[in-house]
Amino acid sequence: MKVNIVYWSGTGNTEAMANLIRQGAESKGAEVQVKPVDQAQDADLNCDILALGCPSMGEEELEETEFEPYFASLEKQLAGRRLALFGSYGWGDGEWMEDWTKRARDLGAELVATSLVVNEGPEGDEAQRCREYGAALVG
Ligand SMILES: Cc1cc2nc3c(=O)[nH]c(=O)nc-3n(C[C@H](O)[C@H](O)[C@H](O)COP(=O)(O)O)c2cc1C
Repeated sequence: MKVNIVYWSGTGNTEAMANLIRQGAESKGAEVQVKPVDQAQDADLNCDILALGCPSMGEEELEETEFEPYFASLEKQLAGRRLALFGSYGWGDGEWMEDWTKRARDLGAELVATSLVVNEGPEGDEAQRCREYGAALVG
């Protein structure tokens, strides 16, 4: 099972989630690759599960300079794809993730787990939740 994780993170919270998710997936025997979105390549789509991470930015939006264009570039390739979404947020209510999850579903992606949101950095129980999420992706 190959899990590729692509994320954007401004202050490291979503990056920390990505690395914890990696730990959880690896604990179940998956081969996991983690990349910041500015290093993503077409070949990264060659995987069983694509996990994408982006915090809530703008006003409940995906980060607009790198991540939104990346996700838009994937739109035609999401039908039938096994996808997982995660990210950190601050003062909001998680609306960006609801919108993003709906967008992915409407494009035909198969969401393999409930999208994972963490308020600011994943500490303590939240770190464990990220690891469990990574393990659950692998099944
Ligand atoms: C420019 C900017 C816009 C933001 N907009 C939102 C927002 O609309 N809703 C929210 O809950 N948090 C918002 N945040 C807070 C971030 O989502 C939060 O700090 C998150 O932990 C950042 O994750 P990162 O460390 O991976 O960059 C915003 C932060 C910045 C810098």
